[in-house]
Amino acid sequence: MHGGGLRAAAGHYGIAPEQWLDLSTGINPHGYPLPAPPAEVWARLPEPDDGLEVAAARYYGCEGLLPLAGSQAAIQLLPQLRPAAGRVGLLAPSYNEHARAWRMAGHRVEALPALGDAVPAAIEAHLPQLDVLLLVNPNNPTGLRVPVETLLRWHQQLAGRGGWLVVDEAFMDTSPGHSLLTMNGRPGLLVLRSLGKFFGLAGARVGFLAAEPALRAALAERLGPWALSGPGRWAATRALEDRAWQEQARTALTAAGTRLDQLLRRYGIATEGGTALFRWGRHEDAVAIQDALARQAILVRRFDDPASLRFGLPGDEAQWHRLEQALEAL
Ligand SMILES: Cc1ncc(COP(=O)(O)O)c(C=O)c1O
Repeated sequence: MHGGGLRAAAGHYGIAPEQWLDLSTGINPHGYPLPAPPAEVWARLPEPDDGLEVAAARYYGCEGLLPLAGSQAAIQLLPQLRPAAGRVGLLAPSYNEHARAWRMAGHRVEALPALGDAVPAAIEAHLPQLDVLLLVNPNNPTGLRVPVETLLRWHQQLAGRGGWLVVDEAFMDTSPGHSLLTMNGRPGLLVLRSLGKFFGLAGARVGFLAAEPALRAALAERLGPWALSGPGRWAATRALEDRAWQEQARTALTAAGTRLDQLLRRYGIATEGGTALFRWGRHEDAVAIQDALARQAILVRRFDDPASLRFGLPGDEAQWHRLEQALEAL
């Protein structure tokens, strides 16, 4: 489920890439404003005591975080740390890379519902048959949020028999009070974080795995030395340390998310969920709406099962206006 299909869309619709308004991702359109890194950051091998781990511990409020070249690095490798042919419960729809990685490593993936009031009961009913429960929380794209107490209850059940609860918190930065990171270190509890969304640093490829020491060590061994680039580490350290920026970004994104929700509803797209960084809703004409917007050089993300659309945030008033005009023309 990647955004970033802009070049393909540009080719398909015959509209130059720079003319598009790309709302197909959940990336902050006003990402962290980085200065250029000092020359030695490019020239020297990155050192583990360069300040990144300290900055991360402060920002996330816990110790025991393994830096990754994006959470994708852990998404790909975690399935290899479990005995083969495990049973893994995953929300559907959700971020596709998880299911792909677990399947590729030979595990059996079970789809769990990601929408509606019956979700917790459905997950609970599946739990006895699962070795791993993997939740994106809040979920991309449905916005489903599972409360901390519920997650901890499920974690206890799984960990009691050697299972894992994996929670991908890629979109948690605007609601840190709902994070499981304060529980870090419990056996069988794994949390993924990313600097790609809230910080808008998807290209820097920085994320973290929070987990018990043995799991972190096993993953670190597979990643090998210098898993992150020096400039990536430097950029992430600056962003994680900048409290003032984080606070204003949280406020601005929350307001923008609400504005997007209201705008979409005004034009008949009933959003059912989302986060500050995107809104999602089912629509039987999802294909036609995506196509009509694309003809006006606005790219949104479409899902087929169920037929639905996800809208990211416009970056400035001109872009908001452009989206509104395009919705009006539908
Ligand atoms: C839910 C979720 N998790 C993880 C990722 C991967 O992020 P990263 O850039 O940290 O690899 C994405 C990217 O779209 C995502 O949506």
